[in-house]
Amino acid sequence: MATKVGILTGGGDCPGLNAVIRGAVYSGIIEYDMEFIGIKYGWMGLLDMITEDIILDDVRGIISEGGTVLRTSRTNPTKNEEDIAKAIANFHELELDHLIVIGGEDTLGAAYRLWKEDDNFKVIGVPKTIDNDLSGTDVTFGFDTAINIAMADIDRLHTTARSHNRVIVIELMGRHAGWITLEAGLAGCADIVLIPEVPFDIEDDLCKPLQKMKDQGREYAIVVVSEGAKIKVEHDRDGSLFLQEVDRDEFGHVRLGGIGKILANEIEERVNWESRHVVLGHLQRGGSPSAFDRILSTRFGVAAADAVSEGLSGVMVALRGSEILPIKMTDEIKIIKRVPDDYVRYARLFTAR
Ligand code: F6P
Repeated sequence: MATKVGILTGGGDCPGLNAVIRGAVYSGIIEYDMEFIGIKYGWMGLLDMITEDIILDDVRGIISEGGTVLRTSRTNPTKNEEDIAKAIANFHELELDHLIVIGGEDTLGAAYRLWKEDDNFKVIGVPKTIDNDLSGTDVTFGFDTAINIAMADIDRLHTTARSHNRVIVIELMGRHAGWITLEAGLAGCADIVLIPEVPFDIEDDLCKPLQKMKDQGREYAIVVVSEGAKIKVEHDRDGSLFLQEVDRDEFGHVRLGGIGKILANEIEERVNWESRHVVLGHLQRGGSPSAFDRILSTRFGVAAADAVSEGLSGVMVALRGSEILPIKMTDEIKIIKRVPDDYVRYARLFTAR
């Protein structure tokens, strides 16, 4: 009997999700004679049994499409014992042999928790997030597309900032880690880079360097800031986050946003330099994946089908150097991979002080 494989995408969408699905389905059907069931809307689809069969024709050509044909949600199947039992029961009810779970730390953390609960709940994880902050893999798919989008927009904002002698503050995604801001900022020649890993002082780390640039005759400036960047607060080592909403999602996350506007106002007041802010937001997540992400995602998908065929479970396929390897999922799946100090050095070297 053919191996029956469920596949789902959870959490925020990300360019490359469809390429992973296509990679797994192509390899699974053509090389291993597997059958695929799409679980729609992430974990919600498993809890509510929203499924559809997937055949080769369903995935032809989707390598270039952004978003996810399986749709997604931030539903957490481990939020209570009842949902944990339901998710596991439904997996068995669907007669699945394996489930390929494509997601970030929350979605994969839930997969790991369910597998620990029942080792017949066989899971293979695929690491996804534009934020690139997942431990265990050198890089996640979606990140390359996001930094290229951000870089192109920073390039555009240089010309309008220069034409008007303004400062433009660009707020970029990155809830816990500053990978997008640092890499897009460096590639796009930003003058100031502010990331969550390095809490900053508005006067010392933003306004003073801008004042110096202005005094030296610079006519315009570009500041990039992560949505999760934190301001140094005395007696509070972690600083404060800027929130759009205080309500939390099922994984306990608040919605970040607003730091760009606040900084632009501060710059106008303190440096007397006309400023604007831009929030790139979901533009960084939408649209077609880059060539790098299409290939990486395809390789992740094929590696997931390989892992199923080998009967593995509780593993995540990860990029290590130039190889894709199945690595054991552990509690560390939820540890955020932050920008290391030697990388922060580049931001210091190539930006204003
Ligand atoms: O996790 C990826 C991410 O894009 C973060 O950078 C951002 O904070 C979050 O998702 C936004 O999520 P949503 O689309 O649910 O508002």
